[in-house]
Amino acid sequence: MSTPAITFNTTQTTRKKITTLSLRQKKERNEPISMLTAYDYPSALAVDQAGVDVVLVGDSLAMVVLGYETTLPVTMDEMLHHSRAVARGAKFALRVGDLPFMSYQVSVEDAVRNAGRYLQQGGMEAVKLEGGRERVPAIRAIVGAGIPVMGHLGLTPQSVNQLGGFRPQAKNALAARQLLEDALALEEAGCFAIVLESIPARLAELISKRLHIPVIGIGAGPGCDGQVLVTYDMLGLFDRFTPKFVKKYTNLHGEMQRAILAYIDDVKTRHFPAPEHTVSMPEDEWNEFLHDLEA
Ligand code: KIV
Repeated sequence: MSTPAITFNTTQTTRKKITTLSLRQKKERNEPISMLTAYDYPSALAVDQAGVDVVLVGDSLAMVVLGYETTLPVTMDEMLHHSRAVARGAKFALRVGDLPFMSYQVSVEDAVRNAGRYLQQGGMEAVKLEGGRERVPAIRAIVGAGIPVMGHLGLTPQSVNQLGGFRPQAKNALAARQLLEDALALEEAGCFAIVLESIPARLAELISKRLHIPVIGIGAGPGCDGQVLVTYDMLGLFDRFTPKFVKKYTNLHGEMQRAILAYIDDVKTRHFPAPEHTVSMPEDEWNEFLHDLEA
């Protein structure tokens, strides 16, 4: 049986730039929204050319790119460095910058300033932040400055120490009620979308139906308006651990290992470089060079 052909959205002429408004329209048309993370120029180019709707420069960068145990150590300056590279690669997707730990929790002024840096210095078009009703003043202020905000509820990795680990959330009636109220508060505060991470599928579906703004799920079941994954997880590039909710579409870590082993073997056996990888010199020039040496 032949493999079905996959068409890439590389004919850019027919593609329309994705905006917060077009995401809202997708929800109204019941058209699923796709979102992925990117951390540099090649990953941004790959997700954008494939036609993803939203590209997130996630603070998951701390773990999957920088090798930290949690997302907490990554700084605003580091996020901006990566977001500039992503902005050079992603032209059609809506570009969202993740506000890192301590860039928006201390004061509303910090939150607005750092959100603004993403747009002024990082090439982003919107920001994402974690937390529920306690974030409402910051969200209102950022939105008031003309910056679209995406919320993030459920398993909020920046609160890993408070949550007692990377574990599913809102599994009892009280927590589910609080999560719904948080989601409504975020919508009311002006968020253009929210991410729901690692919560029961039936709760995520109910919230998606109650909210007018798009709800993007990660480990939150099929009833959301869209889905997001950490790109390096779904590509099998981040090998340390894989959350249960990740579908691995390929094993790039294995592919890289295979290629690197083949290279080492080629070097050892002198199969690389071959003539086609080698700079040549015209025979007469070479002979003249040797002749001059002997003179
Ligand atoms: O940092 C990140 O990659 C995220 C996604 C998991 C939504 O917040």
